[in-house]
Amino acid sequence: MPALDLVIRNARAVTASDIFDCDIAVKNGRIVQLGQSLSGAEREIDAAGRHVTPGGVDAHCHLDQPEPPPVRMADDFDTGTRSAACGGTTTVIPFALQHKGQTLRDAVADYHQRAEGKAHIDYTFHLIVSDPTPTVLSEELPALIREGYTSFKIYMTYDSLRLDDGQILDVLSVAREHGAMAMIHAENADCIEWLTRRLEAAGRTAPRYHAHARPMLVEREATHRAIALSELVDVPILIVHVSGKEAVEQIRWARAHGLNVFAETCPQYLFLSAEDLGIDDSYQGAKCVCSPPPRDKSNQRVIWQGLADGLFTVFSSDHAPYCFDGDEGKKAGGEEQHFRHIPNGIPGIETRMALLWSEGVMAGRITPQKFVELTSTNPAKAYGLHPRKGSLAVGADADLVIWDEREFVLRNSQLHHNVDYTPYEGMHLTAWPGMTLARGEVVWDGKDFTGRTGAGRFLQCGLPSLLPRVGAR
Ligand code: URP
Ligand code: ZN
Ligand code: ZN
Repeated sequence: MPALDLVIRNARAVTASDIFDCDIAVKNGRIVQLGQSLSGAEREIDAAGRHVTPGGVDAHCHLDQPEPPPVRMADDFDTGTRSAACGGTTTVIPFALQHKGQTLRDAVADYHQRAEGKAHIDYTFHLIVSDPTPTVLSEELPALIREGYTSFKIYMTYDSLRLDDGQILDVLSVAREHGAMAMIHAENADCIEWLTRRLEAAGRTAPRYHAHARPMLVEREATHRAIALSELVDVPILIVHVSGKEAVEQIRWARAHGLNVFAETCPQYLFLSAEDLGIDDSYQGAKCVCSPPPRDKSNQRVIWQGLADGLFTVFSSDHAPYCFDGDEGKKAGGEEQHFRHIPNGIPGIETRMALLWSEGVMAGRITPQKFVELTSTNPAKAYGLHPRKGSLAVGADADLVIWDEREFVLRNSQLHHNVDYTPYEGMHLTAWPGMTLARGEVVWDGKDFTGRTGAGRFLQCGLPSLLPRVGAR
């Protein structure tokens, strides 16, 4: 019997720090050897000198998240993880959302049911804490952190989810005491509501006014406040979906003052702008309604700079799968909506990796190592999955992408999500995963999805490892 299950020959292996030529040997779903002229495997794949990176860890995506009817997410754990795999992502971290009045335990149990037996790739959950009752703070959340749910998101906006500053301080204190990672959606809810009412009064309700109701200062103020609250509690935080210059400035200020403020950005802040929400009142703009909204070209440049120079820790999709047509998505109830009622978010779980490889690595804006750090290694570290995930090293899961560098025009018809559009329709790309392997199994062969329903396993997370543990030697 062959000693190895698989050898990938002639790989140009990329890690967060190095690039080197090697063969990669896999046994029982793990990398067991990196070397030259490895042999004795049941199967061989010739990478022919192409780049091989760790599979992507998409640490911010929304799959089958419960919504008030008639709205429904188009992707569940089946279609969402299929789409992820075909785009080079091998681990996803969507959100178990607590509704106000619901226990965190119930939210987690419900979400496990939604995922059970459906995922094609490995997954874990962040929690969304929307109701930090005394029981949640003193019992449920600490217990769940101990059980491996070591990260949670809190919102400063959306009426159904937002916490006030006192509640944020309470929740951050739990993160500090138990070593969890708090992710913060930073937008000032009261400013948004005030601006929305003024727009409404002027009859300005088309999709493009979503961006008018959420200008940069609304994000800047909340980012500043989130940083101050984390400083008061003395706990690291990670600001999610940072959209532009003024929020970046706040984060740079925090870093310069020695605060552990991490940041995430997403493709929409590199490739979309407020104009994509419409230059007139067309409802097509609903396709790009997300929060914070895309800004402009100068803000896109600031985001690119932050990716290259280390300001950003994580690059996620924030995949929020709502169809444009039909009555469950952007036209909730089947009608064109006031921007206030358009479900927020855009699809992108499959395009995240290729967009950044094409426009980042191929275009010379970031190195291949930086790509790996942002899309895989750092998200795995931030959420307690490293080194099993996010690394191309002996002992790590054999989650790998072999890259094809070729020019093509992106079409939604090529994608595997269940959404009826991509905001990147018609974009010229220069790379796409030629093959994705999840724990040593080929799940995307460059033409077809080849994974197995239910092959994805739930991962219990450790504590974040972006920072040295206090007291560790
Ligand atoms: O607009 C967005 N980003 N929708 C998804 C939910 C969230 O806040 O991340
Ligand atoms: Zn958010
Ligand atoms: Zn999100």
